[in-house]
Amino acid sequence: MDALCWNHPSISLKGSEISENHGFFRPKSSSHLHFRAAMNSSNPESKPSPLKIQNRMFILGMGFVGQFFAQELKYSGWSVSGTCRNLGQKMELEGRGFDVYVFDANDPEQGTLKAMKYHTHLLISIPPDVDVGDPLLQHEKLLRTTLQGGDLRWLCYLSSTSVYGDYGGAWVNEDNPTNPSSQSGKLRIEAEERWLNLGNDLGLSTQVLRLGGIYGPGRSAIDTIITQRSLSERQHRRARRQYTSRVHVQDICQALKACIQRPSSRRVYNIVDDDPAPREEVFSYARDLVEKKWPRKLSTLSKQVEASVITNGSGRGDKRVCNVRMKRELGVSLVYPSYKSGLQSIIDQMGDEEPF
Ligand SMILES: NC(=O)c1ccc[n+]([C@@H]2O[C@H](COP(=O)([O-])OP(=O)(O)OC[C@H]3O[C@@H](n4cnc5c(N)ncnc54)[C@H](OP(=O)(O)O)[C@@H]3O)[C@@H](O)[C@H]2O)c1
Repeated sequence: MDALCWNHPSISLKGSEISENHGFFRPKSSSHLHFRAAMNSSNPESKPSPLKIQNRMFILGMGFVGQFFAQELKYSGWSVSGTCRNLGQKMELEGRGFDVYVFDANDPEQGTLKAMKYHTHLLISIPPDVDVGDPLLQHEKLLRTTLQGGDLRWLCYLSSTSVYGDYGGAWVNEDNPTNPSSQSGKLRIEAEERWLNLGNDLGLSTQVLRLGGIYGPGRSAIDTIITQRSLSERQHRRARRQYTSRVHVQDICQALKACIQRPSSRRVYNIVDDDPAPREEVFSYARDLVEKKWPRKLSTLSKQVEASVITNGSGRGDKRVCNVRMKRELGVSLVYPSYKSGLQSIIDQMGDEEPF
C-alpha cells in the first residue's frame, strides 16, 4: 500500500496547517526540535502551541514493528518520537530523524512520561515481562496522573494471538473466549484489559491489536535459513503447531493506520493474514525460494535445521485466527495475504548478491 493511500482529505483551516486527515501535515521545519525545546522550557506544563496542530506519534518500544511504523509515519509527514533501551540505538534512531528517549519501563523517567503527554497518538509495543507483568503498568497511577490533560487522543496496545490458547486447530475470532496456557499469554490479557481501561478513562480512542507471528525484511524464515541459525526451542515449539497465524510487518502498519483513521473505544482486532499454515510448510517454501535464487548454496547445517523441524512435527492442535473484523471494520486489504507472497517479496528485495 502506498504510504499516502490512507489519507483522508485534508481540512485546511485558514492561517494554519491543521490536518484532520491523520497523516499529511508536512512540517515546514523540524517540529520535533521545537517540541524538545518546549519540553525543556522552564515550565514543562505549558503546551507548545505550534505543535498542537500536528499529528505526533509516541512509540513505547521502538523494536521491529515500532521502527517500521515510525518510518512509514515519517514518510507521511508525522512527527515521531519513541523509546529504546540503550544509547547506541538512540543515536542510530535519531540519525534517522526520530526523537528518541532512552527509557526503562520498570523505572520510568518522569521527563519521558511528560513528553508522551504532548503527543497526539501513543503506541505501546513493550511486551509484558514474566516477573512483573506489563512493566509500565507497574506505575499505572503515575502514568494516569501524568497523561491527564495532555494532547493524546489515540492509544493502541500491541498484543498477541497467544491470548486465545489452544483451539485444536479451529478458527477463532475476537468473540471467542481467551484461554492461554502460557504465563505470557495470561499476562497479555491482563495488559490488554488495563491499557483499554486506561485509554478509555482518559477519553482516548483505544484499541488492541492481537498480532500473529510477525515477519518482514530482516526477520523471516528466509533470513533464518540464510543465516543458518539453529532454531531455538521456542521456534521448535511453534514449528510443531498444526497452524500458526502470521502477519507481514507492512500489513501491521496498514492496520495501525486504519485504526488511526477509524477511532473507536475499547475495540480489539486480530491482525493476521489469510493463510495460517504449519511452520514447517513455511520453511519448506522459504528454502525453495532460496535454492531457486542461489542454487546449491545451502549448507548441510541449514538442511539439518529444516529436517529437525519436520521430524519433530507432532501435529499438536492450535488455532487458525480469523481476520474478518480487521477487514470489515478497518477496511484493511492485505498486501501479503499469504506467507508465500510475503516471502517472495522479501527475497526479491534482497538483490542478487549472495548473502551467505
Ligand atoms: N515477534 C512476534 O512474532 C510477535 C507476535 C505477536 C505479538 N508480538 C508483540 O508485538 C509487539 C511488537 O513486536 P516486535 O516484534 O516489534 O517486538 P520487539 O522488536 O521485541 O520490540 C519490543 C520493544 O520493547 C522494548 N522493551 C522491552 N521491554 C522493555 C522495558 N522493560 N522497558 C522499555 N522498553 C522495553 C524493546 O527494547 P529492546 O530492543 O531493548 O529489547 C523493544 O524496543 C511486542 O509487544 C511483541 O511482544 C510479537
